[in-house]
Amino acid sequence: TWTMVNIVEEQIERIREQIGDRGRAICGLSGGVDSAVAAALVQRAIGDRLTCVFVDHGLLRKGEAEQVERDFVAATGVDLHVVDAEKRFLDALAGVSDPEQKRKIIGREFIRVFEAAEADVLARTAQTEAGAKVAFLVQGTLYPDVVESGGGAGTSNIKSHHNVGGLPDDLEFELVEPLRTLFKDEVRLVGEQLGLPAEIVWRHPFPGPGLGIRIIGEVTRERLDLLREADAIAREELTHAGLDRDIWQFPVVLLADVRSVGVQGDSRTYGHPVVLRPVTSEDAMTADWARLPYDVLERISTRITNEVAEVNRVTVDITSKPPGTIEWE
Ligand code: XMP
Repeated sequence: TWTMVNIVEEQIERIREQIGDRGRAICGLSGGVDSAVAAALVQRAIGDRLTCVFVDHGLLRKGEAEQVERDFVAATGVDLHVVDAEKRFLDALAGVSDPEQKRKIIGREFIRVFEAAEADVLARTAQTEAGAKVAFLVQGTLYPDVVESGGGAGTSNIKSHHNVGGLPDDLEFELVEPLRTLFKDEVRLVGEQLGLPAEIVWRHPFPGPGLGIRIIGEVTRERLDLLREADAIAREELTHAGLDRDIWQFPVVLLADVRSVGVQGDSRTYGHPVVLRPVTSEDAMTADWARLPYDVLERISTRITNEVAEVNRVTVDITSKPPGTIEWE
């Protein structure tokens, strides 16, 4: 729409004013809509002086890494630096079943890997552009985040937060937050306006620790692959039914330490259950279990048990929040 065109143009102009010719920018992509839209806006403003960093921790859903590496790059022409860190994350998670410990490990590894990638990118930049004094860090902070955190005006300097080796001592970090005045639904409209892939623009909220907290028990490559298949089927059927935008989130959870008896063909099976957890919500603080049509649930159940070896039972979580949380961990 006309207003969206104005918002986009205005944001691009502001970014140009802030960054000017003072240096280069880095943006971490998560696969979600906020970082993607923020990056796309900055790309429009300063072109290849922006480098995006994508840490693939191996805990994303089926197809999500490709959406960033292939489709997002095709749509924006952005300069992307991908770090394949799956092995590192899985090694760090080996033997760990406790939810909070998983979160800590994933968060810690993420910061380490991201900062190392950032240092790489900045070191390359420093070599080619002597005299650059500022490194801009792009973040997809939304208006509600600004309000929640007591919201200081303008941009913050976060020099102390970063200690990146091999760089000029006087290099400063400055935040660029082009979504600071926008709500989520506006961010999606901006994303559409910028021609970003629908899968990214309309992606449901997804936790930073990813599928790592949707496997109840230890996280392994095999279990992730199982869950990825089951999750992809559930999402596919939801989309086919045209219900994506009626649902807030649709976690699929693998009860990896539980087995139950089943029968398939002539033989007894002893496989894992998965839990479907579709919810409606306004802000994730409270949520209700979504009354998905029986025929949609039936198709999901039939397909998962037919197509995902090792899963022989599909259940639906009918707990609202409170008392349940949206995620199982
Ligand atoms: P719960 O499970 O607490 O989730 O009802 C509320 C919302 O937060 C998301 N969530 C997380 N997001 N890191 C994140 O970035 C996390 O560790 C995390 N845990 C939960 C969840 O998906 C839901 O949208």
